Amino acid sequence: MSVIVAPSILSADLANLQPAIEMINDSSADWIHVDVMDGVFVPNISFGMPVCQAINQHAKKPLDVHLMIVQPEKYLKEFQKVGAHSISVHYEACIHLHRTIQEIKALGCKASVALNPHTPVHLLEDILPELDMVCMMSVNPGYSGQKFIPHTYQKVTALKALIQQKGAKTLIEVDGGVSNQNASELLKAGADVLVSASYIFGATDPKAAIHELKKSTPSYQV
Ligand code: DX5
Ligand code: ZN
Repeated sequence: MSVIVAPSILSADLANLQPAIEMINDSSADWIHVDVMDGVFVPNISFGMPVCQAINQHAKKPLDVHLMIVQPEKYLKEFQKVGAHSISVHYEACIHLHRTIQEIKALGCKASVALNPHTPVHLLEDILPELDMVCMMSVNPGYSGQKFIPHTYQKVTALKALIQQKGAKTLIEVDGGVSNQNASELLKAGADVLVSASYIFGATDPKAAIHELKKSTPSYQV
């Protein structure tokens, strides 16, 4: 299976989102990653349900909604209504994570947990078989355009081992500072989904940048 590529529209022209969505529709990208920030869980505020709904009106690819908000359980239904295909809630933002995951699934969405760079992978041990995906943050959430944290490779490797040990089907998504410079290494470590904002939207040809990620293969050392 080739890597799933999910461009994040956080780095698109936010005053002119429709062409960005159409570019993604027309590209080899698989999903559209939507970064929701509340100014409490993360220092930045991005956008919420109305913008998600507007994106959904033009999107021909599934919306991968990343909730960087406190008490995400309050808004699950609303994001499902505005088109979320998958919903990532942060481990660090959920007191009753198991319940929240069940609620996401009951809405018919794919359930994912996002992990901050400081949160160890082993904390997911008991919930892992319930998860469709883990969103591994490779930067501290809040902004696009940050530098990739190399320790992520080890975390992805450890998570992949845990998934295999549990016999789970959980996908590993990597989010933050992803580019053609680290894509192959991430796939080698076990990543299934690559999220990217600034590498794609900062490129002179964003569609070509998407394709560059899409054709990445795991790199092997000789
Ligand atoms: C960060 C967001 C990321 C971000 C990625 O808080 O969750 O999805 O948009 O941006 P880049 O690819 O520029 O690091
Ligand atoms: Zn994200």
